[in-house]
Amino acid sequence: MTEEAIRTADPLRTGDLIELDGLEKVFDVRRRTGPLRREKTRVRAVDGISFTVSRGEMVGYIGPNGAGKSTTVKMLTGILTPSGGRLRVAGIDPSRERTRLARRIGVVFGQRTTLWWDLPLIDSYRLMHRMYRIPDARYRQNLERCVELLDLGALLDVPVRQLSLGQRMRGDIAAALLHDPEVLYLDEPTIGLDVVSKAKVREFLRDLNAERATTVLLTTHDLTDIEHLCNRVMVIDHGRLVYDGTLAGLHEIAPGERILVVDLEHRLPPIEVAGARPVRVEGPRQWLAFPASASAAPIVAAIADGYPLVDLSVREPDIESVIARMYAERPTAP
Ligand SMILES: Nc1ncnc2c1ncn2[C@@H]1O[C@H](COP(=O)(O)OP(=O)(O)OP(=O)(O)O)[C@@H](O)[C@H]1O
Ligand SMILES: [Mg+2]
Repeated sequence: MTEEAIRTADPLRTGDLIELDGLEKVFDVRRRTGPLRREKTRVRAVDGISFTVSRGEMVGYIGPNGAGKSTTVKMLTGILTPSGGRLRVAGIDPSRERTRLARRIGVVFGQRTTLWWDLPLIDSYRLMHRMYRIPDARYRQNLERCVELLDLGALLDVPVRQLSLGQRMRGDIAAALLHDPEVLYLDEPTIGLDVVSKAKVREFLRDLNAERATTVLLTTHDLTDIEHLCNRVMVIDHGRLVYDGTLAGLHEIAPGERILVVDLEHRLPPIEVAGARPVRVEGPRQWLAFPASASAAPIVAAIADGYPLVDLSVREPDIESVIARMYAERPTAP
């Protein structure tokens, strides 16, 4: 059967593209506990996760450090073999048929490049053209599109090791898309990027999803990525899925606080105003927390009234604090 025939025959063509059922990954880790002693411990990195993702969905996959996000993504690509449970991506068992799956998925690990370090960017793309046996016209079309939208024109002849982090990341995203994958896994694709680059990457991903219905699973610590891109968010903690729903719903469970950063003319004792509590003082700068649902205006007015105010900004709670709060308020699981 040709590749095209296989695709058309796929019963999952319009249904669930990613299916996990009780997925587990256990690592056996040896730890030194003394000069001659080693102890074997088991880490349940992924501890029975079940979910499905439909074609065209853009899903955020978030959780604190060590929650098991990257381990899940590695199993979804076939790099790691699950210790238990069932897993299908586009009807394929990833660890059994990793090469066949590779032609249908794209992966970007923000922490690590898939590009050839010493070669100019364009050479990596040429190698992928051959490796994935991408039809010439398709390759040219996709490359052109990525070069334009990700602003890669001036970088194609630059060796990858000379690219800045943001340039390299854009290069990696293009590399993951040259073969028209149906699913794209992004593991922290905006880590370390400046505001402008982040916005560019987000816009690109949104267009990709809208125009080609590419299914996206996005792992990130930046809640703004999720706000811009994902209707659905899944939260994992200690290898377990603890939330699957909308981002707004997550905020309701975890009604966070916002932070007011206040610059005064000089150092003063902690500011006392109604509706906010001081959380930190550093020289003339102070941090005050107030409920995310409250308006900042009356607090700002009270500070401006009673203190020598120079500057002021409001910070949204970051993903870590939203999640930390969510656990603090959640009864501990049995
Ligand atoms: N190859 C490995 N060998 C042993 N333990 C591992 C291995 N890979 C991951 N782990 C452990 O599994 C757990 C989950 O790690 P994972 O990298 O999936 O977390 P994560 O959610 O991606 O975290 P982060 O936000 O820091 O990227 C951690 O406790 C980690 O130490
Ligand atoms: Mg990770």
